[in-house]
Amino acid sequence: MTAQLRHMLRDDDVSHDEQLDILELGMRFRENRLFSRPFEGPQAVAVLFDKPSTRTRSSFSVGVAELGGYPLVIDKGGSQLGRGEPVADTARVLTRMTSAIVWRTFGQERVEEMARYATVPVVNALTDEFHPCQVLADFLTIAQHQGGVSELAGKTIVYLGDSANNMANSYLLAGATAGMHVHIAGPYGYLPEQSIVADAQAIAAKTGGSVLVTTDAKEAVRGADCVFTDTWVSMGEESQYATRSKPFWDYQVNDELMSLAADNALFQHCLPAYRGKEVTASVIDGPQSVVWDEAENRLHAQKALLTWLIAMQRDDTSLLDGTK
Ligand code: CP
Ligand code: NVA
Repeated sequence: MTAQLRHMLRDDDVSHDEQLDILELGMRFRENRLFSRPFEGPQAVAVLFDKPSTRTRSSFSVGVAELGGYPLVIDKGGSQLGRGEPVADTARVLTRMTSAIVWRTFGQERVEEMARYATVPVVNALTDEFHPCQVLADFLTIAQHQGGVSELAGKTIVYLGDSANNMANSYLLAGATAGMHVHIAGPYGYLPEQSIVADAQAIAAKTGGSVLVTTDAKEAVRGADCVFTDTWVSMGEESQYATRSKPFWDYQVNDELMSLAADNALFQHCLPAYRGKEVTASVIDGPQSVVWDEAENRLHAQKALLTWLIAMQRDDTSLLDGTK
């Protein structure tokens, strides 16, 4: 291994094998929360928020602390970045003081610019386009309940609802990377961009996965090992609430739709959830739902991701085998 600065800006920034390595490391952190301590010192990790958060904020704050570091959490309202200081200048400053930069923001081009100017790993903690940390946690949750990381390839996952949002895009890219059969179902006008579908198809052709994008919810769910949904109104779209509900009712995850999935299918939702909208209470609070494990797995998956990025940058494999 040679030292290399790596970032996690979108789900296909890691290869199939690298994704497996990160998820296996996530399993180690599930068993032992102090498995590796890359930020011993404590070294600081900047965790920036331009949008609200409960899970991302808590999992990165607790995670960085458990990795031996200090989480420097900065909200939009409390930073010059929030007042319009250039991203490049913020990157140049933070990179001199921190060991990694984690950022939740709006356009994907913002995290890309941060990564261009930073000399430490940059992690996308949700943009309008992608939410890669969430999907690592979601796949860890499938591994936890359905036979381990080695069993992920070949599984069928389905995502229903707003299929033009960050979660749909991330399931496409991460699922294809994992070698899964990725089904995406949503109404016309809310389907993923063709360029992302094409990227996912190109990856799937190499990993043995496949991609199906459809408006037919029932066709998409049939036989799935895991059923995902997300809010119909993402952060930043609140003013469209009234118009946005209408097209999505056929994609609500309810008992009838769940009955078409595999017998042991899991239900996951990145949260926050709107019961009675994208999912019924009977499903999210029912026996197939693993949403609380999923939320906990944000912690383990992100600790694994940060540890892996630092191991790459320092060319230090001892961080990955628990000897440090
Ligand atoms: N799933 C997720 O990212 O939740 P938060 O918005 O609470 O961070
Ligand atoms: N699609 C949602 C995900 C929240 C974690 C949003 O962007 O608001």
